[in-house]
Amino acid sequence: MASLPLPLPTIPSHSHLSLRRKLTGKPPHIPSRLTCNAENIEKTPQHPKLDRRNLLLNIGGLYGATNLMPASATPISSPDLSTCSQGTNLNTQQPLDVNCCPPFSDKIIDYKLPHTHHHHRRLRPAAHLVDKAYIAKYEKAIALMKALPDDDPRSFMQQANVHCAYCNLTYDQPGDESEKLQIHNCWHFFPWHRWYLYFYERILGKLIDDPTFAIPFWNWDNPDGMAIPAMFVKENSPLYDERRDQTHLPPTPADLLFSSTSKTDPNIIIPTNLTEMYGEMVRNVSNVEDFYGAKYVVGTAPDPGPGSVERGSHTALHAWVGDPRSPAGEDMGNFYSTARDPIFYSHHANVDRLWSVWRGLRGHRPKEFEDKDWLEASFVFYDENAQLVRVKVKDTLEDKEMGFSYQKVDLPWLEKRPKARWRRSKIASKAVGVSNVVFPVKLDKVVRVLVERPKRKKGKEEEEELLVIEGIEVDTAKFVRFEVFVNDEDDEPGEVRERAEYAGGYSQVPHKNSTKVRSKIRLGLRELLEDLDVEDDDKILVTLVPRAGGEDITIGGVKIIYA
Ligand code: C2O
Repeated sequence: MASLPLPLPTIPSHSHLSLRRKLTGKPPHIPSRLTCNAENIEKTPQHPKLDRRNLLLNIGGLYGATNLMPASATPISSPDLSTCSQGTNLNTQQPLDVNCCPPFSDKIIDYKLPHTHHHHRRLRPAAHLVDKAYIAKYEKAIALMKALPDDDPRSFMQQANVHCAYCNLTYDQPGDESEKLQIHNCWHFFPWHRWYLYFYERILGKLIDDPTFAIPFWNWDNPDGMAIPAMFVKENSPLYDERRDQTHLPPTPADLLFSSTSKTDPNIIIPTNLTEMYGEMVRNVSNVEDFYGAKYVVGTAPDPGPGSVERGSHTALHAWVGDPRSPAGEDMGNFYSTARDPIFYSHHANVDRLWSVWRGLRGHRPKEFEDKDWLEASFVFYDENAQLVRVKVKDTLEDKEMGFSYQKVDLPWLEKRPKARWRRSKIASKAVGVSNVVFPVKLDKVVRVLVERPKRKKGKEEEEELLVIEGIEVDTAKFVRFEVFVNDEDDEPGEVRERAEYAGGYSQVPHKNSTKVRSKIRLGLRELLEDLDVEDDDKILVTLVPRAGGEDITIGGVKIIYA
């Protein structure tokens, strides 16, 4: 029993559903969550699932006999590989033209972190600082990985498919076949990718017989490292990929707020990038949830809400590297193909490094969720011995305990708290002309709305004031981006986000598997209101500015909460 990932009665129904899909090309029942109002989104998991959860718990063994969950908890558990299906475009009902299911194995073991002696630790270097010998070693490892047979789970193609399978709504949610498994745009974003890179790195190390081998990170939060690192643009190198935006090759600095309309003037991009990083790493993220993303458990519809880095710099760079000449922004610009570009792993190593940096900046404030639904969530990967292993979120918290760490580099964004452009004690004069916006509203143009600041509860002065943009309805197949400004006087806030009025943004990496999702974001307001000197006002003027795909974005509501 212990070797079965999920001894559940759901397995027959899974295969039944896949069969139905094979026969009719139709997906199984699609839940009607999309019609629920914004209130309900916040309350997932849904009540009707309670009985089913209790039933699952009573079967026992699901979480190990010694680790009983409270009845309300059902963390995401590792998918059953036999339920992997090619997937369907939920909009067109057509089967997808990619199949990224991993080789099947039913021998799965619980992964134990190996004990690493200090001198065996892997030190991940900044990609723009490494020497020739390091590059040669990395090239050799990737060449060997690319030379493995296609059906070897450690081959480069299979490694790329791991991302596709977990991100393209390929698996059913274990325990709820009416929902799909998606580890993006929710609180599993950081831990899942950390495991993914972990095994990728171990496989490469094994191929070159170097247990200290560590992948390089693309240090795009530092002006010195913002361009695509040189090792990735050498044509005939195994690190090269031709499916990239040819106008974004070095020395062009990466644009961490990229949208199709943005300019590439480095004089604008570099300071804007640093402001963005300050927002994602400091200003917007007093609460753990705002950094990691929203809660996602069995029964939650995919994409409940991305954290600051995921929806910001991370997504921007996927779109910025992806090739506009390819049909779906391949490779980097689409979830199914992104990990076919070797630069993906260095992009995500930097995302992962930022997680470690953020934890280091927290001091005595919480660094992670205490929620068992997060800590006990599990995924499966093939390790460097091609063994299928089950891993848990709770084992990812400290990079050093996983046997790796990052080269120390400067954090030039840390002191980049932006200045107000329109600092004043009264609400912006523009507010006078703002009529009532009726939500939901389509973002095909700039939307302005006056938002009431509820009274803070006594004794809760420590809580962050959060601007919540909820019911963000988008088609997952589209690249979209919008930005949020507070008390801004411009009719159409331009490219300058190096200012306190810029509160943050939302953007998403397109999936091949298109469907509608409803997401939300929360933006910390405390510093922003201080900077604008409007802490005593009872309303703020919020401006939502579409930057890409506005006609495909609907906003359900805007409100202020304390948490
Ligand atoms: Cu799994 Cu950057 O995406």
